Amino acid sequence: MGPGPRGDELRFMSNPVSNTAQRRPARPGRLPGRQDWSSWPHYEAAAAGFRGYWYPVGYSSRFGGKPAQITLLGEKIVVIRDRGRVYALKDRCPHRGVPLSQGNQQFPGTISCPYHGWTFDLASGRLAAVITDGPASPMCGKLSQPTYPVEERLGMVWIFVGDGEDAPPIDEQLPEELVANEAVLGSRIQPRVGNWRFACENGYDEGHAKYLHRTALWRLFKPMPVWNQTHIVRRGRWIYRVQDEQHWDADFPGLGPWSNRAWYKLRPPSAVQNIGNTGSHRPVNPVIAAQEFPYVPVDADNHLYVGVMANFERGLGRLAFYAKYLGFIRWLFHGQFSAQDKWMVEVTDAPPERLYRPDDSLLKWRKLAEDTCEERATRLRAAGLDAGES
Ligand code: FES
Ligand SMILES: [Fe+2]
Repeated sequence: MGPGPRGDELRFMSNPVSNTAQRRPARPGRLPGRQDWSSWPHYEAAAAGFRGYWYPVGYSSRFGGKPAQITLLGEKIVVIRDRGRVYALKDRCPHRGVPLSQGNQQFPGTISCPYHGWTFDLASGRLAAVITDGPASPMCGKLSQPTYPVEERLGMVWIFVGDGEDAPPIDEQLPEELVANEAVLGSRIQPRVGNWRFACENGYDEGHAKYLHRTALWRLFKPMPVWNQTHIVRRGRWIYRVQDEQHWDADFPGLGPWSNRAWYKLRPPSAVQNIGNTGSHRPVNPVIAAQEFPYVPVDADNHLYVGVMANFERGLGRLAFYAKYLGFIRWLFHGQFSAQDKWMVEVTDAPPERLYRPDDSLLKWRKLAEDTCEERATRLRAAGLDAGES
């Protein structure tokens, strides 16, 4: 790799590369430049996604009696609805490898491969009939097609991808406030190019929003500082960024002043106390907070963006939320603002990487992911199972 980036951001690098008096003193031993992600072996190995989770794969309305193929964690899966319930099976006929999703239903509760009519029970995956071998086919009962646990929640179909362990109840993996409260949701699902880890890292990246999104229309109403100091707190299975200091203007030595303010943007508030990245003066009510689900790994190079905004009001407040979401949030936040992130995720190319102070957020996220994954691997080993590649 060539020399590191030369520019303002060097002021905040903890790496001992800076040697001019203007720059902050280096804090040795923290955030060294990285050539790989070997400090997080599970994370590094999980290019196609973390196993052991429920993932949303699309709106419920998308899945009917016509088989649909989806890809999740690199696995091709056929999804079909039969008498109201959604089922998911591995989308490769064991006979000659044809996708079952190109077949259809010949009997209720089953799906038949289009080639020779091998017919699988949707619930168990059992080979229930081989149409071209007659009713007494000796193949029946000899093999089963792998199936995936499926649930419907929040208007979406969710599929669990594991390594043979029992799927945990899906509610254990959903945000608690969505399980415990009745909510209305505004959401947007979009297939996107780029590795899921870049998308998750972008979602939690402390430094970028203030700069990358400075031109987003959404930002007219969300003042953001030039830079800030934050720390990360863990609450249960979640981590949060908490702001300690915000700097609305900055003077860059030898270059001049730089500010995020503009005449057309709302003024920053005088007092700030919140979690997150904006300058709202209102403390975030944990029950009325925007929710972003994890980005869903499709394969190593693609993911599904599932942007969800939840609102817990009733009656008229609910109508107001619909109006606000459809007229505004959907286009400005889940649309143009999020498209800037999409762009960055497409062009991110790491490792190698030289991290800077705000990237502590990335390190904390990777550590959380790594620890959670290690806990699962330990659990699976104790049960005599093998934790796949992640
Ligand atoms: S390939 Fe599926 S039945 Fe032959
Ligand atoms: Fe962003």
